[in-house]
Amino acid sequence: MKKFGLIGYPLTHSFSEKYFKEKFEREGYEDYVYEAFPLQNLSDLPELIKANPDLCGLNVTVPHKIGVLYYLDKLDPAAKAIDAVNCIKIVNQHPVEAFFSGELSSLQVRLEGYNTDAYGFETSLKPLLKKHHSKALILGAGGAARAVAYVLNKLGIAYKHVSRRAIKKQLSYQQVTDELIRETFLIINTTPVGTYPNVEASPDIPYELLTSRHLLYDLVYNPTETEFLRRGREHGASIKNGLEMLHLQAEKSWDIWNQ
Ligand SMILES: NC(=O)c1ccc[n+]([C@@H]2O[C@H](COP(=O)([O-])OP(=O)(O)OC[C@H]3O[C@@H](n4cnc5c(N)ncnc54)[C@H](OP(=O)(O)O)[C@@H]3O)[C@@H](O)[C@H]2O)c1
Repeated sequence: MKKFGLIGYPLTHSFSEKYFKEKFEREGYEDYVYEAFPLQNLSDLPELIKANPDLCGLNVTVPHKIGVLYYLDKLDPAAKAIDAVNCIKIVNQHPVEAFFSGELSSLQVRLEGYNTDAYGFETSLKPLLKKHHSKALILGAGGAARAVAYVLNKLGIAYKHVSRRAIKKQLSYQQVTDELIRETFLIINTTPVGTYPNVEASPDIPYELLTSRHLLYDLVYNPTETEFLRRGREHGASIKNGLEMLHLQAEKSWDIWNQ
């Protein structure tokens, strides 16, 4: 049996569990299972891995994407730059190999960390970009915002973070001026604001200044059209939700686990 899973807390409705169970069934992967592991304390991760010797890979979600770095033996360069991991590959390690690497761990596995959110975001954003999308606002400053910032850096798009905490170089929502909205044509929501069931909420930006030159990207995928996107569309902006990114990051995890 090959087992895969998701760690996070709380895990109320897991997209990944449904996605992979359906994939295994559709594509005829017999003896493959995907399980949601609600994990409140990351310190219980080694125990979880010990108790599930068939485990080959894990997805990581809120609130563990950053804390999990401490438990990893190897970090992919992109995950290192982003400083957040949402995919772990569990590699069986021969005891002799473990001994010589100085890690005679009782687990005899090696944990490798990757960030597939960045891949999902980049691949779904690129086809929508136009020349005038040279500057961006990233709403929120959590784990997903780090992956988004990494991709924008890679694509040469200058960005500012907007956060409820105006610390370091982050702007507060009150500091988002009309002029900034008029000259920044890419706005990315990386906050959970507007997620079901709070579907009437939207990030606090001056929507009335949006135009057809703006592109609004929402990492939220439930509902498919959030209030943020709806208000953007109302003013002629192009819109994109987080569904394609979600599918792409899941498939990238699958590739990593099988390579
Ligand atoms: N589509 C995809 O594939 C995909 C992938 C990853 C994540 N996501 C979605 O992206 C969202 C963020 O994920 P995450 O992992 O970055 O979560 P996170 O680490 O909890 O960060 C979210 C950030 O949003 C801001 N925020 C939270 N509640 C807010 C509120 N009520 N009002 C305004 N800002 C608020 C906070 O930033 P400040 O405190 O700085 O304001 C927080 O750091 C979630 O909805 C998640 O489902 C989607």
